[in-house]
Amino acid sequence: MLDLKRQYRPLHQELLDAVGHVLEAQQFILGEPVAAFERAAASQLGVAHALGCSSGTDALWLALAAAGIGPGDGVVTTPFSFFASVSAILRAGARPVLADIEPTTFNLDSEAVQAVLKAPQPVPIRAILPVHLYGQCADWTAFSRLERKFGLKLIEDAAQAYGAEWKGTKAGALGDAAAFSFYPTKNLSAAGDAGMVTTNSDDLAERAKMLRQHGMRRRYYHDEIGWNARMDGFQGAILSVKLKYIDGWNQARRTVARRYHALFREAGLAESGPYPFHGVVLPHEVAGSKHVWHQYVIRTARRDALRAFLTERRIGSEIYYPVPLHMQEALKSLGYKEGDFPEAERAAREVLALPIFPELREDEQQTVVAAVAEFLS
Ligand SMILES: Cc1ncc(COP(=O)(O)O)c(C=O)c1O
Repeated sequence: MLDLKRQYRPLHQELLDAVGHVLEAQQFILGEPVAAFERAAASQLGVAHALGCSSGTDALWLALAAAGIGPGDGVVTTPFSFFASVSAILRAGARPVLADIEPTTFNLDSEAVQAVLKAPQPVPIRAILPVHLYGQCADWTAFSRLERKFGLKLIEDAAQAYGAEWKGTKAGALGDAAAFSFYPTKNLSAAGDAGMVTTNSDDLAERAKMLRQHGMRRRYYHDEIGWNARMDGFQGAILSVKLKYIDGWNQARRTVARRYHALFREAGLAESGPYPFHGVVLPHEVAGSKHVWHQYVIRTARRDALRAFLTERRIGSEIYYPVPLHMQEALKSLGYKEGDFPEAERAAREVLALPIFPELREDEQQTVVAAVAEFLS
């Protein structure tokens, strides 16, 4: 599914040197290794502030809390994402309100969000938290319109989308604040847990910085209840090295995705969708958006049987995500039930992520597509 060693081998010495400098400086938490990464990331993304933190989950919480979202506030998000998109809202003390997804991109559907905003809600809605799922930005034109119309905050869950763009603006520079994850499987990855908050607001950045370090502006003077959400120096140093390569890696992912499209079409398996019939619905890149293909996700009707067939042939695949968030045991208290979000539920039954990473070879992709063709025949 993902061979991280292929990325590591050519960077081996550069990474060892970077880690060595942190050891020499004995600066293990925040400090210059993290500050240098923050400056480079902010400049690359075209955003005023980037703040390194301990994980993508903490980045989401920090972004929400620093934007002033808390108890008594509602935040609209998607039921089709990793658990943290919703749990971070709860962690901030706010109430997640869900809206269904678009069947073609799997991203939060702005029309469904608009319907939620117009309907009576148990709490006032203060923010929308769209997720740039699989590496493609949510429809930011539509969400910006809703932001203005309803006077809301927009927080990006950009955990899967470092380098993605919407109409020429990079993920991380679109919303009031954004959260990134550098979990080792992400397209920009640390050597452990790490994340980042970005924002163009000086006030929000200052507040996030304070909350990241137990609510301290001055050492041992606590203005608010923050948390320990700091980034390690080692992660900052490693990420600074990888930042130099991320554009090339994202470009290589785009090539891999294009090759999959071509191979599936040549094999006569591609269907126009949005739902699968006998074959495979290929993932769709929206006009004006730059997808970074964190995942290459097909839709297919007999998904579980196909996955078992691929596993037998030692071909990796994954289901992101098998259970929509409104049907998770831990989120029962939100009061949703099966049937509330039919697009998310259908996607959870049909999606299958195929191997994709910058170093994936064409012959390996041919093997994957040949196996899917064999199963479908
Ligand atoms: C969409 C999304 N949001 C949030 C997160 C949380 O990031 P982390 O695992 O770094 O805490 C992830 C990563 O798993 C993710 O995919």
